[in-house]
Amino acid sequence: MSTYTIDTATSRATPSPAPMKRLTVPALRDRKGKEPIVALTAYTMRMAQLLDPHCDLLLVGDSLGQVIYGLPSTIPVSLDMMCAHGAAVVRGSWHALVAVDMPFGAYEASPAQAFESASRVLKETGCAAVKLEGGEAMAETVAFLTARGIPVIGHVGLTPQAVNALGGYGARGKGNAEHAQIIDDARAIAAAGAFSIVVEGVIETVANEVTAAVSCPVIGIGASAECDGQILVIDDMLGMFERTPRFVKRYDDLATRVGAAAAAYADEVRRRAFPTADQTYRAK
Ligand code: KIV
Repeated sequence: MSTYTIDTATSRATPSPAPMKRLTVPALRDRKGKEPIVALTAYTMRMAQLLDPHCDLLLVGDSLGQVIYGLPSTIPVSLDMMCAHGAAVVRGSWHALVAVDMPFGAYEASPAQAFESASRVLKETGCAAVKLEGGEAMAETVAFLTARGIPVIGHVGLTPQAVNALGGYGARGKGNAEHAQIIDDARAIAAAGAFSIVVEGVIETVANEVTAAVSCPVIGIGASAECDGQILVIDDMLGMFERTPRFVKRYDDLATRVGAAAAAYADEVRRRAFPTADQTYRAK
């Protein structure tokens, strides 16, 4: 069980800003065709604090399996991991809508299983919505959750939890049949009540058609600038990894900067140049 706010007296966190209203699900849904939705993934409290003033949506993606835990795919990610990181991100944010990914195996068996998992996510994290992967096959589940007060973001196109069935992470929608299926998938989950849809790793024309086909906002990743918003994995856009998908733009080169800082520290420790008087307690 978690609390949804940080105790700024005892944590390293900077003080919370003046109370503000978080972006709500209806407000985000209303952004269709308007100002683009700015979304990033976040997995930790401090990163959420840094991203929150700039983002409409913070997604606690199951990409944390690879990004934080070094797992080979998102498949081994558990509901416990999603709840722990989801709660941390809610504690570190005040303005953005926070959504948490449903991990593989926590929702596919039945709408009832999905409700049990999603209600746990909402209770333990304080987030406003969940995201789940899949199209037509998940429409019944999306309708079931939505009707019971759980807002759902859909995810179509390249769905990483299906990597074994898809055979890899290549772009989707190149052939006519796949193209048509992605549009049908988006239509099905939009009709079922998804308040937004992520479209990932598809050719541009497919992303544009998905965006035009549904009345909820479509958030692209490896998709199209014409989507209603964009999302990237935070560690990818910060340049934390040498290998990233082609659709990632690196806005920094943090991996190099972290390495340089660690090297400087190691050098000073070895030369006994750290700590200095500034970092040492002495009797007055
Ligand atoms: O898990 C994740 O980070 C995601 C985004 C890439 C959309 O699903």
